[in-house]
Order: sequence, then C-alpha cells, then structure tokens
Amino acid sequence: MNEHGNQHSRFTLIRNWMGIAGAALAMGSLFAVLCLIAFDFLKGFRRPYIGLLTYLILPGFIWAGLMLMGLGLWQDRRRKRRMAGPSSLPRIDLNNPRHRRILNLAVGAGFVFVLITAFGSFRGYEVTESVRFCGALCHTVMKPEYTTYQNSPHARVRCTACHIGPGASWFVRSKISGLYQVYAVLTNSYPRPIPVPVKNLRPARETCEECHWPEKFYGALERTYTHFLSAKENPRWTIRLLVKVGGANPTHGPVGGIHWHMIVANRLEYIPADETRQSIPWVRVSNRETGRVTVYESKDNPLPANQKNRAVRVLDCIDCHNRPTHIFHSPDQALDLALWLNRIDPSIPSIKVNASRALVESASSSSQTQALQQVAEKLGKEYADYKDRQKIEQAISETQNILRSNFFPEMKTTWQARPDNIGHRIFPGCFRCHDGRHVSKTGDTITHDCDACHTIIAQGPEPEKTAVSLSGLKFDHPGGEIPEGMLCNDCHNGAP
Ligand code: HEC
Ligand code: HEC
Ligand code: HEC
Ligand code: HEC
Ligand code: HEC
Ligand code: HEC
Repeated sequence: MNEHGNQHSRFTLIRNWMGIAGAALAMGSLFAVLCLIAFDFLKGFRRPYIGLLTYLILPGFIWAGLMLMGLGLWQDRRRKRRMAGPSSLPRIDLNNPRHRRILNLAVGAGFVFVLITAFGSFRGYEVTESVRFCGALCHTVMKPEYTTYQNSPHARVRCTACHIGPGASWFVRSKISGLYQVYAVLTNSYPRPIPVPVKNLRPARETCEECHWPEKFYGALERTYTHFLSAKENPRWTIRLLVKVGGANPTHGPVGGIHWHMIVANRLEYIPADETRQSIPWVRVSNRETGRVTVYESKDNPLPANQKNRAVRVLDCIDCHNRPTHIFHSPDQALDLALWLNRIDPSIPSIKVNASRALVESASSSSQTQALQQVAEKLGKEYADYKDRQKIEQAISETQNILRSNFFPEMKTTWQARPDNIGHRIFPGCFRCHDGRHVSKTGDTITHDCDACHTIIAQGPEPEKTAVSLSGLKFDHPGGEIPEGMLCNDCHNGAP
C-alpha cells in the first residue's frame, strides 16, 4: 500500500499547468538536442548557428523547463499545505523495494543528465572557440577580418590563439565582452568600421610568443617589390631589399637588427598622441642591464605638458605587426601584384590608374555587390573601343577579385581604415619614431638612416636595366628628388 501523500505527489506535476508546460519544454528541447547531437556526430555541422543552437540555446530551454517544473511543484505543495495544514517531507525507506527502484532510477537519470551537460558544455566551448564561430556567425560584422584572415599567412591559426590566448582569465574576460558584442550585433549598434587598434587586446607577449619567440634569429629577409607607375604604358619599376630583421639569439648570428626592440634587455615605451597610435611624440628606452634610460621627443609635435602623465604603452609585436593576418591591400599594392603576375595584362594602356580609380570610387557604394557592378561598368565604358575584349574581360574580373578580398563597403572597411605599421611608404609605420626628428636631451636622434633597417640590392625599370649591388645602392626615387623634410606618406597614400 502507498503511504500517505505519495499518490498525490505523483500526479501533482500533471495537475499543475506550470509543471506541464515546464515538462513539455524540457522534454521537447532535450529531444531536439539529442537529435542534433546525433547529427553532429554523423555529419558535423556546417553552419555555426546550429552549433550555437545545440550547445548553448536549447540547453538553456531545458534548464528553463526544469525550473518551471520545480516552480510548479513548489506552488502545488504550498497550496496543499494551506489546505491540509502542516505536513512532513516524504520518508525514504531503502528496505522498501519500490523506494529503491525509484532511487536507482533517479540516480541513473541524474548521471545521464550530468554526462549530457558535460558533453554539451565541452562542445559549446569548442563551438564558440572555432574559427567559423568567430568569423562567420556575425556575417557582415566580421566579413572584412574573416576574408583577409583566410588569405593570410595565419589562415590556419585559430582566431582565439591571437585574440584570447591560453589560460582561464582571458577566456572569461573575452566571453564577457563577447556578450556585449552579441548585444551590439542584435541591436545593430556596432561601429562601422570597427575601430582600431583593438583596446584590451591581450599583450602580444602572451599570444604571438606562444609560436614566435623574441630570441628567434631571422637574419636578413629578402623582399622584392614590383611596382607599375602611373604613366600610360604602366612602366615597371622593381626594388629589392634585404630587410635586417636580425634577432636575439647569439648562437645564430649577431644580436641586433630590427628585432632589437624585442631584445629582453631593452624596454621600449611610448605615449601615442591619440587613440589610433599613428603619431608618437614621446619614446623612452631603458636598458635593464646598464640601467641607462633615454627619452626621445619629437621636435615637430612635442607632447603637450598636460599629457605627460598619460598611460605609457610598452612596445610589443603588435606595435609593428598590427596586420599579421587582417591584411587589407591598397589598390596600388593589389594591382601591382596582379600586373606583375600577368593576371591583368600590363599592355592595356593606363590600366593601373583606371582600375585603381574604379576601386577607390566603388568603395563608397552601399554594398559590395553594387561596388562590383560599378567597377565592371566603369572599366567597360573606359575601354569600350579596345579591340581585345578577352583581355578587358579578364582585367575587369581580376579587379573585381581584388575588390572582393580587400573592400568591404557595408562595414566601411578598406586599407584606409586599417593602417599597417610595417614599413613607411603609405602609412607612417617605422617613421612614427624613426623620422629623424625624435631627439634626446643629449642630442641623440632615433636613426633615419636609409641603411639602418634595410639594404637596397637592386632597383630600376625593366629587369635588364636594373642596377644591382650587394653592398647597397642609394635609393633612386621614381618620383624625382624627395623634398627635404617630407616623409613618404606625405605623398603616397596607396592609390594614384
Ligand atoms: C595571427 C594572429 C591573429 C589571428 C589568427 C586573428 N587575429 Fe584578429 N587581430 C589580430 C591583431 C594583432 C589585431 C589588432 C590590430 C590592431 O589593434 O591594430 C586584430 C584585430 C581584429 C579585429 C579588429 C579590426 C581590425 O581589423 O583590426 C577583429 C574584428 C578581428 N581581429 C577578428 C578576428 C577574427 C574573426 C579572426 C578569426 C577568423 C581573427 N581575428 C584572427 C591578430 C589576429
Ligand atoms: C598558433 C601559432 C601562431 C600564433 C599564435 C601566431 N603566429 Fe605568426 N605565424 C604562425 C605560422 C604557422 C606562420 C607561417 C610560417 C611560415 O610561413 O613559415 C606565421 C607567420 C608569421 C609572420 C610572417 C608572415 C609572412 O609574411 O610570411 C609574422 C610576421 C607573424 N607570424 C607574426 C605574428 C604575430 C605578430 C602574432 C601575434 C599577434 C602571431 N604571429 C601569432 C603561427 C602563429
Ligand atoms: C620594431 C618593429 C617590430 C617589432 C616590435 C617586432 N617586429 Fe617582427 N619584424 C619586423 C619587421 C620590419 C620584419 C621584416 C619585414 C616583414 O615582416 O615584412 C619582421 C619580421 C618578423 C618575422 C618574420 C617574417 C617572415 O616573413 O619570415 C616574424 C615571425 C616576426 N617578425 C615576429 C615578431 C614577433 C613575434 C614580435 C614580438 C615578439 C615581433 N616580430 C616584433 C618588425 C618588428
Ligand atoms: C615607438 C618608437 C619606435 C618605433 C615605432 C620603431 N622604432 Fe626602431 N627604434 C626605436 C628606438 C628608440 C631605437 C633605439 C635608438 C637608440 O637608443 O639607439 C630604435 C632602434 C632601431 C634599430 C637599431 C637597432 C640597433 O641595432 O641599434 C632598428 C634597425 C630599428 N629600430 C628598426 C625599426 C623598424 C624597421 C621599425 C618599423 C617596423 C621601427 N624600428 C619602429 C624606436 C622605434
Ligand atoms: C626604421 C627602419 C627604416 C628606415 C630608417 C628606413 N626604412 Fe625603408 N623600409 C623599412 C621597412 C620595415 C620596410 C618594409 C619592409 C617589408 O615590407 O618587409 C621598408 C621599405 C622600403 C622601401 C620599399 C617600399 C616599396 O613599397 O617599394 C623603400 C624604397 C624604402 N624602404 C626606402 C627607404 C629610404 C629611401 C629610407 C631613408 C630615407 C628608408 N627606407 C629608411 C624600414 C626602414
Ligand atoms: C613629394 C612627394 C613624394 C614623396 C615625399 C615621396 N614620393 Fe615616392 N613617388 C612620388 C611620385 C610623384 C612618384 C611617381 C608616381 C608614378 O609615376 O606612378 C613616386 C613613386 C615612387 C615609387 C614607385 C612606385 C609608385 O608608387 O609609383 C616608390 C617605390 C616610391 N615612390 C617610394 C617612396 C619612398 C620610399 C619615399 C620616402 C622615402 C617616397 N617615395 C617619398 C612622390 C613622392
């Protein structure tokens, strides 16, 4: 026979509407999750949305259902108590086989539930860490960064390896700021373009250095730039540099070179003039071994006295390598490459200038689709009388490819919104400090010597007319004498 109350409590869940709704919600969601997990095992999800649904949203519904059931039960008990006066809790008697069966069932069900939850949380973690989740879920917002990432040397490094890094504290921080980002996307209130530099990016020492350590010695790297000038014949001009990267491993070569900044004994700090860090009026170098400290200040735009207590930033990898993976090519760079590789035929008159203009104008369209159309129309009209239609068709389609990989009108993101700090031709880059105008109290200047960072080993027009010298050439500027005191990016901006 049943003890008093048992008969009732078995049916109360079903009598209470809240309990019924909760049970239905929990069972329905559980069923859906199980089906989706089976699907994930058999085929794998192609879309990040489904992972999000399976491992984060639906489990939320299961919990909500269980909570509703509990609430229903509690309400019911309260009502009963009010009607029947004080009652005691049900007694569990392990000698009663029925009680034992119920207990076994409860423990078994609890175990399965914990197992599913653990697996779900693990997959939930994996899903939110995946490249597809970061890059493709908020499609429009992340499209510029995701597209450029896929074309970069880091295409197989996970977003989270650079943006979050190892350890729990940054993981938690990133998930909290991630919640705000989801809110900004849902309410369409995110800024376009996404502002750079990224505030609160984890220090590069803890991310980049998981794979590239500062002591590693690179020696000199050879770089070849093949430019096409803006004259009608698209004349070619090649420059070859040996870039003196160096390093800090004395067993492999002399310590020094460009990676001198990263040598552990040196500490380089600076105060930027504004948020974008594109102008640096104040620099301090400390040598941990000798204890020597030198402060360099810009003669042209010194830091106002009231800003001297602003936060000092320690120079790290990202102050130079701010575009290791989200690389947005300027029209100039992208077209030089396409012409060099003959994807666009350099014999088409003025194609460099015309294609470049078409790209720049299309950047102000409202969508990429519209921009692509605009490029085709503009170049089609420009070369309406040109005989070799196939060459023109190919030039148009290649210009459109450049647009697809580098121009994102929906997010107002192009090379102009994404300055690259390596080099000094179209952005200030190294010349933010190395402009020859940063001096110390004792009169030392941060070097502006053209041979300090690289050696020009070849330069000139056609390959056969190129001057070559391994001991270094004086720079022959295709644009004529550079006026005293002017920096490269005063004239060069990435588009003709
Ligand atoms: C090799 C390291 C690395 C990887 C991998 C990486 N990022 Fe970045 N990302 C950076 C750095 C460095 C910056 C900061 C640039 C700055 O502050 O100027 C950045 C900046 C960004 C920005 C701000 C806008 C911008 O272009 O500066 C977004 C958005 C972004 N990353 C998203 C992603 C997504 C999504 C992925 C994966 C698809 C990803 N990142 C993978 C290094 C990386
Ligand atoms: C998970 C490992 C990993 C992390 C983290 C990582 N990288 Fe890399 N990086 C690579 C790999 C792999 C390559 C490609 C190596 C090659 O081409 O030889 C590479 C290449 C590079 C290159 C050479 C690019 C070129 O043009 O060939 C630079 C510069 C670089 N990384 C800088 C960075 C910076 C800066 C960060 C931090 C924001 C970073 N990396 C974080 C693995 C990583
Ligand atoms: C003062 C600026 C500066 C700093 C700081 C700096 N680098 Fe570099 N690094 C360069 C330059 C310039 C090059 C060579 C040119 C290039 O990559 O195009 C280079 C080259 C490299 C390369 C080799 C690229 C290749 O193509 O093989 C790697 C990898 C690299 N840096 C990683 C790092 C890491 C990691 C840090 C931080 C520990 C760092 N760098 C700090 C300026 C810097
Ligand atoms: C924040 C300012 C700053 C930036 C940005 C910067 N540098 Fe430097 N760099 C310095 C300072 C300061 C010194 C040391 C001057 C001294 O005390 O001798 C230095 C020294 C050097 C040296 C000489 C090292 C030696 O052996 O003596 C090289 C080479 C160099 N930098 C290359 C670069 C390159 C390439 C870039 C751009 C990718 C760059 N720097 C960006 C501040 C900067
Ligand atoms: C502080 C270091 C530094 C100094 C000083 C410096 N450069 Fe450079 N330069 C670089 C770096 C870094 C690059 C880019 C290398 C790369 O892309 O890998 C570069 C690239 C170049 C290029 C190739 C650009 C292109 O697009 O074709 C030329 C030309 C050049 N420098 C000329 C000069 C001249 C002329 C001077 C003297 C006024 C000078 N540089 C001083 C660091 C320096
Ligand atoms: C007073 C303006 C001015 C300054 C400053 C200047 N340039 Fe130029 N540069 C030109 C002009 C004009 C051309 C010719 C453009 C053409 O015909 O396409 C040119 C051409 C070039 C080219 C050939 C490829 C191209 O873009 O057409 C390179 C490379 C170059 N300059 C590098 C530099 C470097 C490096 C510096 C800094 C050390 C520099 N320039 C400073 C105006 C300038």
